[in-house]
Amino acid sequence: MKNLKFLLVLLASLTLLNACDSAENSSRSLVDPELTTYLSIDTDIIQPQCLECHGPTNAYDLSSLQSITASGTVVPNQPNESSFYTTVASVEVPHPDDPLTPLEIERIRLWILNGAGISDTGSAVDAGADQNIILENVASAVFNAVAADGVTIESYAWTTDSTLPHVLAGENTAQLTVTNYVAGTYEFILSATDTAGVEIIDTVNLIVTSSAANMPPVVDAGFDQTVILPTNTATFVATASDPDGAVASFAWTQLTGPLTAVLAGADTDTLQLSGLVNDVYSFRVTVTDNLGATTFDDVTLTVERATPSFATLKTTVFDPKCARCHMNGNNSGGYAMNNYAETITEVVPNQPLNSSLFVRTNNNSMPPLGAVEQPLSAQEKADLRLWIERGAPNN
Ligand code: HEC
Ligand code: HEC
Repeated sequence: MKNLKFLLVLLASLTLLNACDSAENSSRSLVDPELTTYLSIDTDIIQPQCLECHGPTNAYDLSSLQSITASGTVVPNQPNESSFYTTVASVEVPHPDDPLTPLEIERIRLWILNGAGISDTGSAVDAGADQNIILENVASAVFNAVAADGVTIESYAWTTDSTLPHVLAGENTAQLTVTNYVAGTYEFILSATDTAGVEIIDTVNLIVTSSAANMPPVVDAGFDQTVILPTNTATFVATASDPDGAVASFAWTQLTGPLTAVLAGADTDTLQLSGLVNDVYSFRVTVTDNLGATTFDDVTLTVERATPSFATLKTTVFDPKCARCHMNGNNSGGYAMNNYAETITEVVPNQPLNSSLFVRTNNNSMPPLGAVEQPLSAQEKADLRLWIERGAPNN
């Protein structure tokens, strides 16, 4: 009775074992993938426990991946077809005398299941350790791919998906050199192909940090400017520099003013404006350095009215409002205004407040109160004043 019970338990266990076997193709496992690489199995299991009897001088040589592969005792992805696994896993015939632990056996099973050292987790090529470097101190980073014992690599291809600036050299050799990087983290992917045409992947990180906080760039948008219509264009040239790097880009934008302005060269140091109208504009130039720090400077552009013309003032103001007493032989107060030369005798160019032509019309004492001629309108006074301010030209 007791024996029967034992047999039933044994049968149940065997059924469970078979169920596990049928799930062989599932790669689900609770074993750390790091423990299922050829390199870890070679280091932890084969070298200390097998080479004593299965070294390079023995008939069954387990000393390299190549010799294991050559022995035919490993069928990639098929542990149950691999005597390397079935021998050490065998419950009935423990081998060697001191059997492997269940975890060690499982590691070997998963290594074979995952392709026997040729998958990316069981990588037979090592891209090296991650590297941490200080941007200011190290001009280049070098990675050396190392193949596992017995693995012969035929070709190398290093790549990265990083969008940060960098320059690579030796991408198709075992040694990758990286230069011209900026602060940030780069991941490099090594794809190596062995003599059997099997692709082996490994990845490695380059972490670049800056010793000093990046200093922002310096920029000067230049002097504020004034232009006088009919000139309706203007140019601003920004000067920029970066104390600890380089200026990477310029960006000009309009902050205030009418939306008539046309901006050209807005992504260069030189902003060219056209389509300007009489108003006040402001613009901002933002510069970005090689590490992404930005600085801006603003400038103001005043677009002034065109200078009123003497000819227009004469026909619209002087002739209709002054002629009766100051032209055609009339020169009240000794002041004749028949032409430009006569008119400017009461003008101090650029000084409207010292020019009686402006003072007397501005305070409405000319034309005299009660005369049929109307006082100057605000716009006429402004035009007369601006004409004198601009030098009272004969225009
Ligand atoms: C104390 C000696 C000794 C140790 C240690 C030893 N073996 Fe063996 N092994 C033998 C002998 C002897 C044979 C049978 C003769 C042969 O094939 O070389 C054998 C056979 C094998 C076979 C069968 C080979 C075939 O042709 O199918 C495998 C697989 C194997 N050993 C794996 C291992 C593994 C894996 C280890 C380490 C975990 C190991 N052995 C450790 C002595 C040893
Ligand atoms: C109805 C006649 C009359 C009209 C119109 C008139 N003025 Fe006069 N203006 C005079 C008389 C009279 C004087 C001299 C007395 C005085 O200075 O008030 C004079 C003096 C002046 C003087 C001062 C001259 C001096 O030597 O100091 C100025 C300047 C002047 N006029 C400008 C104008 C202008 C400009 C207009 C037209 C917008 C104008 N006047 C229209 C009668 C006139």
